[in-house]
Amino acid sequence: MSESAECLAIVTGAGRGIGRATALRLAEDGFRVIVVDRDPGNADHVAGEIRNHGGMAEPRVLDVTDRAAVRKEYAGVVEQYGRIDALVNNAIWLKYAPLVDFDESLVDGMFAIGIKAVLWGMQAVVPTMTAAGVGAIVNLSSPAAFRGGPGTSVYSTVKGAVTSLTTQAAVELGPLGIRVNAIIPGSIPTEGARQHVSNATYAARGDSVPLRRNGTPEDIADGIAYLLSPRAAYVNGHLLAVDGGYLVS
Ligand SMILES: NC(=O)c1ccc[n+]([C@@H]2O[C@H](COP(=O)([O-])OP(=O)(O)OC[C@H]3O[C@@H](n4cnc5c(N)ncnc54)[C@H](O)[C@@H]3O)[C@@H](O)[C@H]2O)c1
Repeated sequence: MSESAECLAIVTGAGRGIGRATALRLAEDGFRVIVVDRDPGNADHVAGEIRNHGGMAEPRVLDVTDRAAVRKEYAGVVEQYGRIDALVNNAIWLKYAPLVDFDESLVDGMFAIGIKAVLWGMQAVVPTMTAAGVGAIVNLSSPAAFRGGPGTSVYSTVKGAVTSLTTQAAVELGPLGIRVNAIIPGSIPTEGARQHVSNATYAARGDSVPLRRNGTPEDIADGIAYLLSPRAAYVNGHLLAVDGGYLVS
């Protein structure tokens, strides 16, 4: 895969936060970006931002938990452009709560977006990447997969599963020419994350991270762009922490 204007990347949950920054960054690298989000206004807005900066982007309003819809939408992309070079499984919806308070619908909803949608996305792009003999996938892990915290039982379960799925898929898909890696964002105060983390907690986190600040969506986008680039041609099954040193502190 090269960073030519020919390459096409799909980024899920690209309407805001880390997904938005990733879509913008990949467009700067020359990818045509399919901006997937369930929020039509945000998907349109981000695709417009990219085009205004001279990049190539199209919005796609899609619920990535709907396996049939994902397959149909991504097949449409292949029909239109003949390729999918990169997939970033970024979309998320989450709740923090005490372990004993999670009811079935909450758990089902978090598993659907956090785990099953990642699998549906990979299933939908692997045949095209296999036919091309090349492709790259980045999944979004989290420090929560490795470290517990108050209320994070189900989110940690989700990200633990995504992490295992990533390393397993790297082994299974590597021989087909498809690299699968995960990024582990540190503390990134996005619109979504701010619904669960107070300003005071963010201030304390920033002070305790070895690099003495919280991260930005652009920090994470740079890591994802690297993992999708030819510079990472021999990187497969890697979990890249972009966290200011949090996990090793
Ligand atoms: N922000 C952090 O501190 C942090 C830390 C570690 C890992 N992560 C991971 O990074 C990723 C992005 O996090 P964020 O903070 O930018 O999230 P966010 O909540 O700000 O954005 C998530 C996006 O996903 C979209 N989305 C939700 N459900 C969807 C669905 N069913 N179909 C399509 N789109 C859907 C939302 O509309 C939204 O645009 C997530 O996987 C998250 O777990 C974030």
